[in-house]
Amino acid sequence: MSFKIVEPATPRLNRCELAVPGSSPQFFEKAAKSDADVIFLDLEDAVAPDQKEQARKNIIEALNDIDWGDKTISVRINGLDTHYMYRDVIDIIEQGGERLDLFMIPKAGTAADIYAVDMLVTQAEAAVGRKKRIGFEMIIETALGMQNVHEIAAASPRNESLHFGVADYAASTKARTTVIGGPNPLYGVLTDKDENGNREYHWGDMWHYAVARMVVAARANGLRPIDGPFGDFSDPDGYKAQANRSAVLGCEGKWAIHPSQVALANEVFTPSDEEVNKARRILDAMEEAQREGRGAVSLDGRLIDIASIKQAEALVKQAEAIAGK
Ligand code: GLV
Ligand code: MG
Repeated sequence: MSFKIVEPATPRLNRCELAVPGSSPQFFEKAAKSDADVIFLDLEDAVAPDQKEQARKNIIEALNDIDWGDKTISVRINGLDTHYMYRDVIDIIEQGGERLDLFMIPKAGTAADIYAVDMLVTQAEAAVGRKKRIGFEMIIETALGMQNVHEIAAASPRNESLHFGVADYAASTKARTTVIGGPNPLYGVLTDKDENGNREYHWGDMWHYAVARMVVAARANGLRPIDGPFGDFSDPDGYKAQANRSAVLGCEGKWAIHPSQVALANEVFTPSDEEVNKARRILDAMEEAQREGRGAVSLDGRLIDIASIKQAEALVKQAEAIAGK
């Protein structure tokens, strides 16, 4: 084990993160009553330039007036290359009260981007005497952001999660996509001929490298890796296939850009009863070994290592948090 201890970020359920445009206040109440763990109210790309100011006002009103229950509430501010961003931060901290939990920073490109927002947020929080520290979630959605993802992940103690913004990432890398967040049939493998001369064509996952790289940067810094949007909300099977793929790689949740995707994300990212029971049995076995003064822990005839015990602890904690909702 390394001497460096990776401290986990503030723990939160993040199975589904529902995007709601700040310019559509008619959707706010419904989002507050949804089953999403996190809601992000958007000031960035879902809001047209001539609606930015009104959207900011809508969000401030909603932060003050709507009962968001136990949800984590985030606001996606505009990019650092726009003239909207500083006022997003300042107005929301000065007028939005204490309810906000997170700022989402889009198109994070360098560690200095996060440092700059941290400086602004720190000043504004101190000026209003805010008691709860606002955390950060960064969208990795440009080639520059992916190049610097490790430094971005480590850039501020406010950091909580990294998100794969596949739509802008495709634009930035000039990847050839068909559906936002979906596969491209041209990205595949043609097998050699079998004895009858037949060949098979298998579709591949063109996002594998990007998601895996982001997962490593997130986990190495104690952050939650979260998969971003899947554009075709009339294709639940396609959504679930992409969600499962990112869950297998280590992501903790996925965005919903439509309310119908919330249940799908919750289904994929909620550990099954079987997994939770197995984790509980691992922890019981560990306690029993400790009571009996045995160093080695085994279950069903197999030795259990420290990594499995840690994973079991995290899983049981998550299951308890879900049960407590
Ligand atoms: C999200 O912001 C994306 O670009 O996919
Ligand atoms: Mg984007």
